[in-house]
Amino acid sequence: MIPVYRTAPWLAGRAALLALLASLAASAPAQVRINVDAQHPGPALSPVQHGIFFEEINHAGEGGLYSQKLLNPYLSDGQAGWHVETSGGATAEFIPRGADRQIPEPHFRVSCAQLDPLAVKPAVVTLTNGGHYGIGVRKGERLDVCLRVVEHGGPTIVAPFVARLVAPNGDILASADLKGVGPGFQPDRSPYAWDKELVGTLTARATEPKAKLQLLPGNICCFLGGTLFPVDTYHNRPRWLRRDLAEMVAGMKPSFVRFPGGCFVEGDCLAHRFNWKETIGDPRDRMPTTDLWGYVTTNGLGYLEYLTWCEEMHAEPLFVVNCGMSHTDFVPVDRIVDGPVQSALDAIEYANGDVRTHWGAIRAANGHPKPFHLRLMEIGNENGGPRYNERYALFYDAIKRAHPDMTLIANEPVTSRPMDMVDEHFYPTPEFFARQSHRYDSYPRKGPKIYVGEYAVVPGAGRGNLIAALGEAMFITGMERNSDVVSMSSYAPLFVNVDDPHKWMPDAINFDTLRSYGTPSYWVQRMFSSNRGDTVLPSTCETPRASAPINGAIGIGTWNTTAEFKDVRVDVGGKTVWTGDSAGFPLAPHNGDWKISGGSARQDSLAINCWATGGDPSWTDYTLSLKARKFSGSEGFIIRFHVRGDDEFFDWNLGGWRNRWHNLQSSEGGGAGIIADNIDGRIEENRWYDIRIELSGPRIRCFLDGKPIQDVTYDPRPPLVGVVSTRDTRAGAILLKMVNMGPQPQPASIAIDGVRSVAADGQAIVLTSGSPKDENTLDAPERVVPRSQAVHGLASLFTYTLPAYSVTILKIPAKWGGASAEASAASRRSP
Ligand code: AHR
Repeated sequence: MIPVYRTAPWLAGRAALLALLASLAASAPAQVRINVDAQHPGPALSPVQHGIFFEEINHAGEGGLYSQKLLNPYLSDGQAGWHVETSGGATAEFIPRGADRQIPEPHFRVSCAQLDPLAVKPAVVTLTNGGHYGIGVRKGERLDVCLRVVEHGGPTIVAPFVARLVAPNGDILASADLKGVGPGFQPDRSPYAWDKELVGTLTARATEPKAKLQLLPGNICCFLGGTLFPVDTYHNRPRWLRRDLAEMVAGMKPSFVRFPGGCFVEGDCLAHRFNWKETIGDPRDRMPTTDLWGYVTTNGLGYLEYLTWCEEMHAEPLFVVNCGMSHTDFVPVDRIVDGPVQSALDAIEYANGDVRTHWGAIRAANGHPKPFHLRLMEIGNENGGPRYNERYALFYDAIKRAHPDMTLIANEPVTSRPMDMVDEHFYPTPEFFARQSHRYDSYPRKGPKIYVGEYAVVPGAGRGNLIAALGEAMFITGMERNSDVVSMSSYAPLFVNVDDPHKWMPDAINFDTLRSYGTPSYWVQRMFSSNRGDTVLPSTCETPRASAPINGAIGIGTWNTTAEFKDVRVDVGGKTVWTGDSAGFPLAPHNGDWKISGGSARQDSLAINCWATGGDPSWTDYTLSLKARKFSGSEGFIIRFHVRGDDEFFDWNLGGWRNRWHNLQSSEGGGAGIIADNIDGRIEENRWYDIRIELSGPRIRCFLDGKPIQDVTYDPRPPLVGVVSTRDTRAGAILLKMVNMGPQPQPASIAIDGVRSVAADGQAIVLTSGSPKDENTLDAPERVVPRSQAVHGLASLFTYTLPAYSVTILKIPAKWGGASAEASAASRRSP
């Protein structure tokens, strides 16, 4: 069951009204000051701002969204999932693919003839399939069984063939005699002498989450497997998507769907990559994919189905293609154009081509003559380095030549060709996301657009708790505010079957065979996506913050580069407290090929991420100085400070991004953040550079050869409150989206400038709960869900108290004066 925004019962009636008025005019003085400038609208909100990322991970599709319930339905993964029992001399032998020259497809050769006259038991074969962690059925639910039996020659007597659903205690929940469809002998359509589909409908007598399907062939046959689909599916389309899951996704109102993965697209090796051409046509004939997430998928949810699903949701398809690189191997560069690039071109033709084109005709033959208008394509997933740079160019040239309107998304900044968009992925802490809520404020406006293709709080998020959702909400305020740069974003991963032993956590939607629920992160996605507005209104948010000094140890490092460091020294208050001199060099190397002696530290590996750290994590207000010289490689030096652990530090990265920029970045819980704008700069080989970093309180100053390069003041503590404001022109309202990550309610003084009037009555949608660790569960799916309530007392200046640990969207009806809001919105559309 999907909860909807509702007025909280405790807010109904007079008492509730008083409570709410009290929250609006809270007596505590406002700590937070929010100002919305409605007179000078910012950029249009990107029309594809919020989407979803569907990956075949955690049984998201197979055993999840795709409603077919049997495990290994076509026996393409051997006998996996099928349990055979025989009695009374009956036989059932599994024949693998190609082992029988007459019937090359994998099958069970079954004989139930009562050959042994002395047998005490009747000759019976039972083939049992327990589905993906059980088969879930509801009382009264109907399920369609469809099996295939064939014979090449000799006698085939299939009737009767019984299918039944059995509970773990042996109770029979449903039973049906299957009927043969088709003429039996079909010499023109089948290589077999006898080829029939056996179909029937099972109606469950009781609800059971862990039922099994049992098949009892009555006589002799060759059984090629089959399917079990619920009759009730999303959009009532036969053999389609599980209704509850698909409806939860549709409720997110995604503007686009990135599919079919992530790492799933890459594969642990190229043989296991997602190859779209093997996923179209009759599902029975599709090649299964050995998914690197620990299971085999039949690809019943294949390329056509993904496109159809997008069409049904009115969401743009974003197809991620394998770029000729897997996690372990790669296609040689001279075979990229004929292989992966051609496959991408064919995928575009299959999706968009006229029915007279080769692949357009195949799409029509597959049942969808109308084109899909695919215009977003991502070249690879999380691929990078020189190999990716080279391959991206080959994709770019071929696709842009044939389809100049396609938007191509790169996995990381490339230099080989222009980028329409770059994909960024983040999985760190709530604090990281809160800090990064200002990440895009200073991104270059002329560079490629950003697609945040994957983001979610992972450390400490459990199976998806409130504080994780709040961190993500903080980040979304920054993405929406900078919608002219961040055109698209999608949370990851979308689904998890809670019984999957290899599962990645957390995920937006959790399900078992019958039930499903959204995590607080799911609800945050839904809140923002359902309340977008069309134009960003500039806003400021002041919160009192004491400044904190930057503290931590030091380090040196390289990335794809060999280099040497010497004269490393730390001074505090004019006194040297640490030095890497000829007597010793107390730096501990962690990766790379380090030779540390005689006051010099030399790193001779071209690997990424080579570093050595040392010193005292409690140091503050220090100056780190050293000399560094590059020998070879594609980048420069990494000078590390504020080192508070292996995954918490700041880096001054000199000659980073393939020797293009000097940048100041932070790392926290595995997530990389940006501290200051990139400065153009490169590092030359075989010359010594003087490097100095001066820390004083929260101020960081970086010098190269005595020249100041960076000067920033940085508060390493995350902001607790995040805000973005948009205008919903059609509704005549301001949407004020506010996050309070802190444990205290925050009275906020809210000023709205530049409107003719603000209506006193509006609406608040609030997501909160008693503890930041609160989660929803299958048994308590609505513990943390948004509640909608009326608010009163709104004005151009008013006070509203943000509950502790909360996301609030205030809908404030307003009237603009002068030029119509529509006109100014139209003039500010983002490109
Ligand atoms: O979202 C889970 C995985 O995280 C994706 O497959 C991959 O792109 C990333 O590493």
